[in-house]
Amino acid sequence: MRHSLITALLGTVPAATITTTGFSLPALPNLIAGPKTPSRPFPLSAARHPSRICFVDPEAPDAGPALISAARDCNNGGTIVLLPETTYTIASPTDLTFLRSIDILILGTIVFSDDVEYWQARAFGYAYQDSHLFWRFGGRDVNIYGLGIGVIDGLGQTWWTAKRRNETVYRPHLFGTDGLYGGSISGLNMKNSPMWFNVIMNSRDILITDINIWNEVTNSSSPPANTDGWDTYRSTNIVIQNSTINNYDDCVSFKPNSTDIIVQNLQCNGSHGISVGSLGQYQGQYDIVEDVYVYNISMSNASDGARIKIWPGVPPNTTGSSSGGGAGYVRNITYELFYNMNNDWAIELTQCYFASSLEACNAYPAVLQIEDIVFKDFYGTTSKKHDPKVGTLVCSDPSVCKNIRAENIVVSPPSAATAQWICTNMDEELLDVNCVVA
Ligand SMILES: *[C@@H]1O[C@H](CO)[C@@H](O)[C@H](O)[C@H]1NC(C)=O
Ligand SMILES: *[C@@H]1O[C@H](CO)[C@@H](O)[C@H](O)[C@H]1NC(C)=O
Ligand SMILES: *[C@@H]1O[C@H](CO)[C@@H](O)[C@H](O)[C@H]1NC(C)=O
Ligand SMILES: *[C@@H]1O[C@H](CO)[C@@H](O)[C@H](O)[C@H]1NC(C)=O
Ligand SMILES: *[C@@H]1O[C@H](CO)[C@@H](O)[C@H](O)[C@H]1NC(C)=O
Ligand SMILES: *[C@@H]1O[C@H](CO)[C@@H](O)[C@H](O)[C@H]1NC(C)=O
Ligand SMILES: *[C@@H]1O[C@H](CO)[C@@H](O)[C@H](O)[C@H]1NC(C)=O
Ligand SMILES: *[C@@H]1O[C@H](CO)[C@@H](O)[C@H](O)[C@H]1NC(C)=O
Ligand SMILES: *[C@@H]1O[C@H](CO)[C@@H](O)[C@H](O)[C@H]1NC(C)=O
Repeated sequence: MRHSLITALLGTVPAATITTTGFSLPALPNLIAGPKTPSRPFPLSAARHPSRICFVDPEAPDAGPALISAARDCNNGGTIVLLPETTYTIASPTDLTFLRSIDILILGTIVFSDDVEYWQARAFGYAYQDSHLFWRFGGRDVNIYGLGIGVIDGLGQTWWTAKRRNETVYRPHLFGTDGLYGGSISGLNMKNSPMWFNVIMNSRDILITDINIWNEVTNSSSPPANTDGWDTYRSTNIVIQNSTINNYDDCVSFKPNSTDIIVQNLQCNGSHGISVGSLGQYQGQYDIVEDVYVYNISMSNASDGARIKIWPGVPPNTTGSSSGGGAGYVRNITYELFYNMNNDWAIELTQCYFASSLEACNAYPAVLQIEDIVFKDFYGTTSKKHDPKVGTLVCSDPSVCKNIRAENIVVSPPSAATAQWICTNMDEELLDVNCVVA
């Protein structure tokens, strides 16, 4: 790429980072997991060579191949740079699963071509919930950082409108890891995701921090849908923290086989809460969510604050069900320090997800067990929707729900009435809430 162009673009980088010889790399900030720290420390990152910099060609008509070529050049110790005040358009599937000890500094804006038709057959497809990706990250020891400047823009409105026209059109998630072992994702602005904002799959030992997520709706007849903040799937030892999320659907969702996850210091607005699940949807499958700590969450304008959603069982001799009957367990989940503002439910635990009725659910209880769950130090006020009820805890049978506790729950409905809770098949001795309805 032309040197004069790089020099011109460098004019926008903070002065301290520019030297007479060219670009001097802004350092990766010292990223620390906290206040809660993972029980298994993250692996150390290999040293990077400050002079091994690979610029993604800003003039490339498709930034996808340019990004792949920069990654090949800078793998094993270098840093890829996307310059500020520059828009890079990714127009073809971009597979970055071969990364080794490399950093990616995003100071510009990355967008994805919004040719809906083009991506239908070409986006990376996954069987799980028909997930699709424009690009994917995998490998070892990778830090992707935006210093609060970088933007990833999914041009979501085109996709939300396409969904209104065709309910089953594939909408890629904005950002995804698949087989990423060790690293961080930080300081990025993510907006207008077609589908989920982030999916962390088949990955481990990743710190995610200082991410700003929002949607800009330009056609109110086609609002955003399914724009989860983060979904974790078949992943372990992941920390998600210090971020703001303005979205529709789950703020964070723990999908099958998410273990050792910490979520802390988030401000979520307009979401469906911090959710375990849904799980147990597919008969014959075994789903595990275990050792999750959710700490210090401010949740506003959501359908739920803390949420656990499990599908019920299915009648005997049912085979191949995709609406319940799946096995597995949810174990050792803590939600601590949770501020509710205008959420419909402060807590919603259900083992009757999408059941036609409570009777139908009780007739065929969930196969998937829930145990060792703690909700503690919940504060705030719910929305008017269920006033005076503020929470709901519904197990399909006492035998499949064990040791579910609620302590110091100081949540009120907006009216002056005493807060009420729906408790079904629960051990009420362990619930420090006012159970009024079965
Ligand atoms: C995350 O927030 C905590 C508490 O506000 C702070 O101590 C920590 O430095 C922050 N971490 C990062 C990486 O910004
Ligand atoms: C809707 O999108 C799906 C997935 O791309 C496609 O298979 C189907 O043909 C589309 N339906 C219509 C009516 O366009
Ligand atoms: C806005 O959304 C509606 C409903 O999906 C659609 O019919 C209309 O074409 C959209 N408008 C534009 C400008 O895309
Ligand atoms: C909770 O998170 C907020 C940011 O959302 C932060 O300012 C505050 O210091 C955190 N509190 C604790 C106890 O960590
Ligand atoms: C929270 O979401 C509502 C709409 O759901 C929006 O009106 C409001 O501006 C959002 N708050 C912030 C701080 O972005
Ligand atoms: C989850 O892990 C268990 C135990 O390793 C395995 O049997 C099961 O198939 C996994 N489930 C999924 C959805 O990956
Ligand atoms: C429960 O999970 C936490 C992490 O959230 C972990 O530190 C703790 O050891 C786990 N407890 C048990 C009994 O495994
Ligand atoms: C909740 O929604 C209301 C109205 O949409 C908005 O004014 C308020 O800022 C939102 N709260 C937060 C914390 O964003
Ligand atoms: C289920 O199948 C078994 C053997 O195939 C049969 O004996 C049993 O009656 C069936 N149960 C129901 C409820 O249909």
